Amino acid sequence: MGRFPAVLTIAAMLLLGGALLPVPAGRVLASEPEMPPYPERGLKGPVSADRLPVPENPVLLHGRDVWEGTCKVCHGPGIAGAPKITGTRFWAKRIEQDLPVLFDHAKNGFSGSSGTMPARGGNAELSDADIEAAVRFMVSNSGGQDIALDGLQ
Ligand code: HEC
Repeated sequence: MGRFPAVLTIAAMLLLGGALLPVPAGRVLASEPEMPPYPERGLKGPVSADRLPVPENPVLLHGRDVWEGTCKVCHGPGIAGAPKITGTRFWAKRIEQDLPVLFDHAKNGFSGSSGTMPARGGNAELSDADIEAAVRFMVSNSGGQDIALDGLQ
């Protein structure tokens, strides 16, 4: 019969093999899920945490709550010169400074070229750990996913 049927047989085996491979649905992720590719200016309209993927990492999950409670007011819509969460274009240079600088600016306040970041987002009740978690959450959703968990155990 020549080679043709052999090729068909191999193709059929590959198809069958593929169909029988278990699909990793609902698997537990060792790391955070890939973020969707946000437009460089960020998602349209004011962003709240419920529009973003829910992180599995407990620090990021805590950061999500802190962010929603205190930081969203400015960083959700991107008002008063605050870089909007998911707006990778507004965050790229900031993220290059790395986490320690961002932590410092978020805890102690910071006036740059676009406005004034109040110390602790104006919420004196937040601990250093709260602030760091919120920064990690914001960074992870703004193009800095690769550094967002740096320095954690
Ligand atoms: C009242 C508005 C406001 C709130 C609330 C606020 N921010 Fe900001 N934030 C700003 C502004 C404005 C900037 C940009 C300052 C600049 O670069 O001129 C900024 C910048 C930042 C930066 C980047 C700093 C840098 O070095 O580029 C981080 C990180 C940050 N904020 C974290 C937070 C966190 C965490 C919270 C909540 C705990 C928060 N912000 C709440 C207004 C706010």
